[in-house]
Amino acid sequence: MEPKRFLITGGSQGIGAALVRLARAAGHTVVFTGRHDETLTQVATETGAFGLKADSGIDTENEMTVDVCRQRMGGIDVLVNNAASWYDAAIGELDLGAMRRLFDSNVFGMVDLTNRVVPLMKAQERGDIVNLSSTSGTKGRKLGTAYAASKWAVRGITQCWQAELRPHSIRVVSICPSEVQTRWGGREGRDNPNKLYAVDIAETVMAALAMHPRAFWPELSVFATNPWNEE
Ligand SMILES: NC(=O)c1ccc[n+]([C@@H]2O[C@H](COP(=O)([O-])OP(=O)(O)OC[C@H]3O[C@@H](n4cnc5c(N)ncnc54)[C@H](OP(=O)(O)O)[C@@H]3O)[C@@H](O)[C@H]2O)c1
Repeated sequence: MEPKRFLITGGSQGIGAALVRLARAAGHTVVFTGRHDETLTQVATETGAFGLKADSGIDTENEMTVDVCRQRMGGIDVLVNNAASWYDAAIGELDLGAMRRLFDSNVFGMVDLTNRVVPLMKAQERGDIVNLSSTSGTKGRKLGTAYAASKWAVRGITQCWQAELRPHSIRVVSICPSEVQTRWGGREGRDNPNKLYAVDIAETVMAALAMHPRAFWPELSVFATNPWNEE
């Protein structure tokens, strides 16, 4: 793949940070976002990518993000909508305000940012948009009303964008990982060699991007082969 200009939301830890590392190692230019200075600086210092403090759930910060990408890279070839938050609650006890805030980042933020990036991609008649969904977006589960609904929405929106953007040679893919051992949801210390790591999902994204531009995968699910293996 020739050098490309990446915008990765939520690149300061987990899957996003693993992708920043792979993209930089492959010679691409990267702007990534996050909301905390310390983790932004760590990944930026390690990789040479530009870390931008911006909340993808806030419209004005998405406007700034696209402006920074224009100024620093002259445009965007690859948009990775990775940033998301998590909220689980039983129906009957659900805090609708918390669900609305989750939709602001996981759904409306993703739509707002992409709405700003697509005109640039249409003008250059090429581009890649990668949306992080989840296996929670393919099958409902207990307590998942807010999060699973947001990830189902990501898959539905991805299909709409595929229908609209294919004639502009813009590829859109949704990635549906099963459990990945990041600090997702405040979990710490998972290190089971039989379960997925962030780098596995980052490699999936890079594989989708490496495919010849005349072809694309609409959706990729990623599972661990044998997560029950205790060895
Ligand atoms: N881990 C899993 O098991 C799993 C499975 C399926 C799908 N996924 C999906 O994969 C994606 C990444 O998950 P992960 O496990 O890597 O999560 P993570 O380790 O919690 O990392 C999330 C990243 O996004 C940033 N972020 C969160 N909200 C943001 C916002 N509103 N604006 C900007 N940055 C924001 C975080 O930094 P700050 O907190 O500093 O903003 C962090 O860099 C998510 O879309 C998630 O739904 C994860």
